[in-house]
Amino acid sequence: MPAVIEINGLSKAFTRFRRGRRVALDGFDMLVEPGQVHGFLGPNGSGKTTTLRTLLGLVRADSGRMALFGQPTPHGLPAVASRFGAIVESPQFFGNFTGRRTLRLLAVAGGVPPTRVDEVLTQVGLRDRADERVKAYSLGMKQRLAVASALLKQPELLILDEPANGLDPAGIREMRDLMRGLAAAGVTVLVSSHILAEIQQICDHVTIISRGRRVAAGPVEAVLAGFDHGEFRIRVAEQTRAAEIIQAAGLTVAAHPDHLVVAGTEDPARISQLLGEQGLWLRELTPLTPDLESVFLELTDTRPRPGVPRQVDESVLPAATGAREITISVDDEGARS
Ligand SMILES: Nc1ncnc2c1ncn2[C@@H]1O[C@H](COP(=O)(O)OP(=O)(O)OP(=O)(O)O)[C@@H](O)[C@H]1O
Ligand SMILES: [Mg+2]
Repeated sequence: MPAVIEINGLSKAFTRFRRGRRVALDGFDMLVEPGQVHGFLGPNGSGKTTTLRTLLGLVRADSGRMALFGQPTPHGLPAVASRFGAIVESPQFFGNFTGRRTLRLLAVAGGVPPTRVDEVLTQVGLRDRADERVKAYSLGMKQRLAVASALLKQPELLILDEPANGLDPAGIREMRDLMRGLAAAGVTVLVSSHILAEIQQICDHVTIISRGRRVAAGPVEAVLAGFDHGEFRIRVAEQTRAAEIIQAAGLTVAAHPDHLVVAGTEDPARISQLLGEQGLWLRELTPLTPDLESVFLELTDTRPRPGVPRQVDESVLPAATGAREITISVDDEGARS
């Protein structure tokens, strides 16, 4: 089976009047296999929307190859148009139409049976507000309407650019449930987001982009494991003495104001034994497992610096700094189990 989305070496620069060129994509790669719920992460301005717009034929690439369901795009798009739904940035709807009328018109235009309209309205939670005008909708309700429009065709692939924008916590949770439900029904989902915890909860695979280049890709677990430094946080009453004992045993230890970070052993029992034998009792022993947020901040170098507002283009340029590219080959069975 061909990959659902395959992007190789995609480059795009925008030429701005009197201001030269701005490179948005710089040899970007992405692979999305059938059945994945694939998160697309990157700082503001890193090229996510440009990637999706280029893939959908809305922006012309300078170079690179792209395919949807094995069909090269943009030329092959008409052949696969019925197989995917996409929302890229905030779609505009006609404010004077109701949500239901909007979807009915889209259904007619797309050759979708009108019965589908009620189904998608219910699916996105708009059933009871479907007969109000779109201009009276909140941002989150417009977002839901957009998702409903993308679902009309019962797509095999759903592409969502920042679907959580404007949604309240309940809305975000519902969007998450909706995506999970779609994934369980076999729909492949590509979702870009800034909400890393959200991505970590929904997605099984992830691609991280920084300054137009891929800096990490693979199953979420594998990407996180690549950043697991095997460290433990410990709290203990006599911190200085504890640090000496641990160091003397050949482990490494870093002191923080109220805790120590210990590395150099895979077995936490070794730490508690070392200290216990000297009459020091642990108050806390926690493995420091990376989450997507810390990995993202490390890879894109967008960690906040106290008192220095970060500018949008200050994320890391991968080749310039030698940032690691971790591309974990996708063992689909293993990754989804
Ligand atoms: N039409 C355009 N003309 C000029 N520059 C553009 C255009 N579209 C995007 N860019 C530039 O390309 C870069 C990538 O923008 P893009 O919208 O793809 O980022 P993004 O990752 O989607 O960011 P965000 O998370 O803020 O949505 C930015 O520097 C942006 O200013
Ligand atoms: Mg964007």
